[in-house]
Amino acid sequence: MRLIMLGAPGAGKGTQAVILSERFNIPHISTGDIFRSNIKEGTELGKKAKEYIDKGLLVPDEITIGIVKDRLLQPDCRNGFILDGFPRTIPQAQYLDKALEDMGIMLDAVINIYVSDDEIVRRMSGRRVCPSCGMSYHTDYNPPGKNGECSGCGTAVVQREDDREETVIKRLQTYHAQTEPLIDYYEKQGKILTVTGRDKIEDTTGELFSSLDSFRQKMSS
Ligand code: AP5
Ligand code: MG
Repeated sequence: MRLIMLGAPGAGKGTQAVILSERFNIPHISTGDIFRSNIKEGTELGKKAKEYIDKGLLVPDEITIGIVKDRLLQPDCRNGFILDGFPRTIPQAQYLDKALEDMGIMLDAVINIYVSDDEIVRRMSGRRVCPSCGMSYHTDYNPPGKNGECSGCGTAVVQREDDREETVIKRLQTYHAQTEPLIDYYEKQGKILTVTGRDKIEDTTGELFSSLDSFRQKMSS
């Protein structure tokens, strides 16, 4: 299964991608996670990416595309993958189309998670992440374990630096200007499957799995 997760910052792409990745046993590739681990390790890539991320801007296409290119060639992607947060611009999508064509493979679906801007701001302010395994929590909707520890690995959860309210607002503007046009782009390819990001994570997952099932049946008939 080859999937893309599309949606505004904080729509729940990462949360749902982790669930899909376990269900289909395919790797979850989040460009945001790749940048954050490089920032943490202090690599050259991390230093460059941080300049843009902290301002709520996109990392330039030439940097981002190179990373995804290398990742998709890894052997674990042979049976499929979930791209989370890539593509985010039309040039990135055009690159991906060409790369998949060269590899002789096709996308199954582009899952677009819709959440209103107001709800996004609410969610982001409560988001906490595990710096070790990447698990995402929300102080109210999906709280971490006791003493604010990750229920998966026990590490203390933290707030992402780009989750400050003014940066979230900038990220939303960037999303509407540069990423939202991709809905149309993939709509024209008949690949878009839109689900509403509901108040409960499991409700969104339920809708996502049933829409994905009917979408695949429709595609194969
Ligand atoms: P990235 O990490 O991809 O950030 P993003 O798109 O802004 O998305 P998030 O990870 O913030 O949100 P999400 O949709 O994964 O939501 P989550 O599941 O965590 O990228 C970071 C930065 O890197 C970008 O700003 C950019 O600068 C750069 N970058 C990355 N890719 C790039 C690219 N391709 N090109 C250029 N630059 C790039 O959920 C959010 C919160 O809501 C959590 O607290 C969660 O618990 C909660 N939640 C989730 N679902 C629900 C629900 N149904 N109900 C209630 N709460 C929920
Ligand atoms: Mg994410």
